[in-house]
Amino acid sequence: MSLDKVTGNGLLLIGDPHIASTPPGQRMGDFAADVLAKLEACFVRAQELDMVPLILGDLFHWPRDNGNSLLVDMISLFGQYKPFVLVGNHDKYQARFTPDVSMAVLNAAGVVRLISEQGPAFELETPQGLVLVGASPDSTPIPKEFEREDGRYIKVVWMTHHNISFPDCEKKQHAIKEKPGIDWIINGHIHGPRDSITKGMTTWANPGNITRLVFSRYALERKMQASIWTPDCEDLEKWEIPHRDFYEVFPDQEFLPETEDAAAAESKFLQGLERLAWKRTHEGEGLKQFLTDNIDPEEPESRLIWELYTEVTDGNG
Ligand SMILES: [Fe+2]
Repeated sequence: MSLDKVTGNGLLLIGDPHIASTPPGQRMGDFAADVLAKLEACFVRAQELDMVPLILGDLFHWPRDNGNSLLVDMISLFGQYKPFVLVGNHDKYQARFTPDVSMAVLNAAGVVRLISEQGPAFELETPQGLVLVGASPDSTPIPKEFEREDGRYIKVVWMTHHNISFPDCEKKQHAIKEKPGIDWIINGHIHGPRDSITKGMTTWANPGNITRLVFSRYALERKMQASIWTPDCEDLEKWEIPHRDFYEVFPDQEFLPETEDAAAAESKFLQGLERLAWKRTHEGEGLKQFLTDNIDPEEPESRLIWELYTEVTDGNG
C-alpha cells in the first residue's frame, strides 16, 4: 500500500459547499462568488494554521450544469491550494462519477486531490506522529473496522458522506457505534451541525455545511463554520467563516410554519408554489428544485408534471 503523504498540524474540514453557477433555491445575488469567497477564506485559514484543507463532499450543487467561467475561477483558486475533495452525491450525475461532471474537470486540471474510492486516502505527518486518513465517498460502505499496522499510526480518521444516525436525522442508515481501529469518523452530507458522539474508541462528528441553501429560520440562526481536527483534539474546533448577512442572500419575507404533519406539508407545498409565482427564478431552476424536492417519482401524476415542466422550460430548465 503506497499512499500519498502530506505534512500539517491537522485537517481543516469544509462541509458541503454546494457551489453552483445557478443559485439554488431562493438564494439571491452572486451565489457562486459568495461560495468561492468562503472557500478561499478556508484555504487561506488552513495555510495560516498549517492545516490540510479537506472538503467533505458535495463541492458542487449541480453535478454538470456549471458554466465554464465558474470552472475557470475554481481552477485558478484551487490550483493554489490543492485541497482534498471527497466525492458526494451531488458531485455525481445519475449516481455515477463520470468524466462529464464538473468535478472531473477540476480533477483533470490537477487542482484537487480527489477521493473517489473507498479506503485509505493519504497519510498525514503531524508533529505528534503519523495519521491515516481514510474515506468512504457517497454510496460506498463505511468499514466495520480498520486493521492497524502495529504502531504505525497515532490516529486513524475516516471521512464519510452518508446518512448517519445522529439525533434529529430522518434517514438513519448507519448506526453510530464503535469501529475498532478507527478513532474518528467525520461526516459531510448532513448539513446541520450535530454534537459529536463517542462510542468506545470511535468519535463520530458531523460539522455541517458552509452554505445556506434553504430559506428557513434555522438558516438564519446557524453559524457558517469550518472545523479543525488535530491529533490531540477532544472535539473539532470551529472556525467561523466570514459570510454575508442572511438578508443579503435571501429575500426579506415570512418564514413558513415548521410543522411535520401531512396536512401542513400539503399547505407548505401550496405556499411554496405561491412563493414561486412571484419569485424571480433563474431559467426555471427554482421550479426544478422545488419539484425535485416535492414530487414523488412513484406517484402516477409525477410524469405529467415533469412533462409540463419540460414543455414550459423548453427542456432547458
Ligand atoms: Fe450536501
